[in-house]
Amino acid sequence: MSSDLLEDIRQVLAFEKRQKRTNMTIIKVRGESKEGTYMPEKKYKGVIFDLDGVLVFTDHYHYLAWKRLADEEGIYFDETINDRLRGVSRMDSLEIILEKSRRRYSFAEKAALAERKNNYYKEYLKTMSPSSVRKETRATLVELRKRSYRLAIGSSSKNTKFILNQTDLASYFDAVSDGTNITKSKPDPEVFLKAADFISLEPKDCVVMEDAFAGIDAGYNGGFDTIAIGEATKYDRPTYKVMQFEDILEILK
Ligand code: BG6
Ligand code: MG
Repeated sequence: MSSDLLEDIRQVLAFEKRQKRTNMTIIKVRGESKEGTYMPEKKYKGVIFDLDGVLVFTDHYHYLAWKRLADEEGIYFDETINDRLRGVSRMDSLEIILEKSRRRYSFAEKAALAERKNNYYKEYLKTMSPSSVRKETRATLVELRKRSYRLAIGSSSKNTKFILNQTDLASYFDAVSDGTNITKSKPDPEVFLKAADFISLEPKDCVVMEDAFAGIDAGYNGGFDTIAIGEATKYDRPTYKVMQFEDILEILK
């Protein structure tokens, strides 16, 4: 046995020990895939992806659109408040923003504010194109399909289908569960439970990928294992954490 192989085995054993102790997968083993030789056998049949902040970086557009609305209304808003909006529905996001408002808004006024924000947001979405998706993200989705995973979207956004079309991502997914087919926003698990149902799988057979604390909670509440990326890696609840989207290939053999 080569010393390189022995070193790999040593690292994988250490990795498994760490995983047992922390229930957290350290994704990279010496920074490269080990061709599946040492990884646990296939644990999932499906993957459910959040959209904003995972597949595309529309989270910044949300921020800009809310910021414009808040400035126009004279309401204080910053990036820290914005982080609380991740994964949260449009109307629930507005309620969070209005916490800093000095005046009260009627229901009709709130609906108008939300529509105004969405119009600003859609202006940004129209600038999106297939090049708005990282090539590594696209290649990873292709590879997951090759590995026979069923892929679904689980997003709170009512703009999901528009974004998927703009970026030419729609054809990678077997199903889309989004803000148009749910009544309860994350951290309620409804959007993911529907996604699992659309791809005819039980939660235990799917893993959910999220960038939001509320999304990790939604996955957890629905009985899913979860993969955190971005902001959600600061949370202690996800099953796995990854630095880059393509790192999920280390989990999904
Ligand atoms: C989520 C975003 O994906 O969608 C939230 O993380 C957003 O920030 C929510 O509020 C609803 O989006 P939309 O496009 O329906 O306003
Ligand atoms: Mg998100």
